[in-house]
Amino acid sequence: KGDSGLSEINLVKRQVSTLEGQLRALQSSFSKYKQVITFPNGRIVGEKIFMTSGYEGNFESLKQRCSQAGGQLASPRNAAENTAIHQIVALYNKPVFIGINDIQTEGRFKYLNGENIVYSNWEPREPNNDKGAEDCVEVYTSGKWNDKSCGERRLIVCEF
Ligand code: IPD
Ligand code: CA
Repeated sequence: KGDSGLSEINLVKRQVSTLEGQLRALQSSFSKYKQVITFPNGRIVGEKIFMTSGYEGNFESLKQRCSQAGGQLASPRNAAENTAIHQIVALYNKPVFIGINDIQTEGRFKYLNGENIVYSNWEPREPNNDKGAEDCVEVYTSGKWNDKSCGERRLIVCEF
């Protein structure tokens, strides 16, 4: 009885050690794949991955594309996330639409899930709802935000 208990423990120890090795291998392989998929069009911030495909379209079209891919239109919630999006904008030298708008209530900017925004990076004198027709938000090549007509075509950046 005592002996079989000991060999059981040794068996489990060997299994744990095997699993530890496999986990280390998986972690190292995963870290390499993260490098690969984010080159050169993606950025990682914490748990989020921001990625462009190079596609350009109006707000609804960008929103649909991201959602179809299993993500959503990039929605920066802090300066680090905005910097990641800004880097992609700078790489393409093309502004992007983000997942923030005031379509529902003029002047109250919300994420796609309806939550009020917790972070913003407006250009001075923005948002100005120019011509009463600007409910979407673009990130300029400076990284600053401007409200803009949702019908304009902009570069896509999704978050996953
Ligand atoms: C406009 C201006 C304005 C900004 C608007 C833009 P446009 O550009 O840059 O400052 O608030 O969103 O549409 O129409 O003069 O080329
Ligand atoms: Ca504006």
